[in-house]
Amino acid sequence: MSDQNLGIDMGDVGNTPTAEKVTNEGSAHAYFSAWDLHSYYGESYIVQGVNFDIHEGEIVALLGRNGAGKTTTLRSIARMDDPQLRHGEVWLDHEPLHTMDSWQASRKGVALVPEDRCIIPGLTVEENLTLSQIAPPIGWSIERIYEHFPRLAERRNQEGVTLSGGEQQMLAVARALARDVKLLLLDEPYEGLAPVIVHEIESILESVKKLGMTSIIVEQNAIAALHLADRAIILDMGEVVFNGTAQEVLDNKELRDEYLAI
Ligand SMILES: Nc1ncnc2c1ncn2[C@@H]1O[C@H](COP(=O)(O)OP(=O)(O)OP(=O)(O)O)[C@@H](O)[C@H]1O
Ligand SMILES: [Mg+2]
Repeated sequence: MSDQNLGIDMGDVGNTPTAEKVTNEGSAHAYFSAWDLHSYYGESYIVQGVNFDIHEGEIVALLGRNGAGKTTTLRSIARMDDPQLRHGEVWLDHEPLHTMDSWQASRKGVALVPEDRCIIPGLTVEENLTLSQIAPPIGWSIERIYEHFPRLAERRNQEGVTLSGGEQQMLAVARALARDVKLLLLDEPYEGLAPVIVHEIESILESVKKLGMTSIIVEQNAIAALHLADRAIILDMGEVVFNGTAQEVLDNKELRDEYLAI
């Protein structure tokens, strides 16, 4: 794949990019920068010129209705094979992720926790954690993880896929900490969880925030994510329609009615 050319590949991108707009001046300064992303599943044009920056330590809520392109944006950032990022640049801590495959991006500190949490079947909790540490960058020790997640310590010898939904979400976050990620991408961390468990996950994410881990949290049911986040970005039909503080979204019912249905 011609990833190396992504930054200047005008390919069959429909409308926006023009020849004079090929360098992203913002990217050199921001900790994380997604610049003019255009992503496709086959010929389906989904992410249509998405731009945003994130400061180090910031938590961003990436919001929008069903099918708005949230997951596709996360997958583009994590450099998954599908969707195909045909144009745009992704920078993390001065590294050009858009020139990389997913495993290279992962080595540079991107961790995507997908909706299904991707716990590896047949492995215990502890084996799932240890596996995260077989390649650098290595983060927290297993002992430190157990101090913060006593529930996982209790269940260390239990097979990961037999944990409850909330515990699996804890394990997914703990795996990211075991790898010392620079950018944590969480796709619907509260999905399918009972309210009481949502609170538990929230408090885990609060501690992730205190640790200063830069994160993007995708949520459809946005209120919980907005309370946690510093900033909010709203997507609609593959485009950014709002980029501001989380508080502004909480205060703006019209905006929520129009794009979030909450
Ligand atoms: N693998 C795929 N192949 C083709 N089209 C896809 C694929 N995955 C998603 N799409 C389409 O891309 C669009 C955006 O989907 P995406 O999953 O990014 O939305 P989302 O904002 O995460 O939605 P949800 O809130 O339902 O998770 C949708 O129209 C969807 O049908
Ligand atoms: Mg999604």
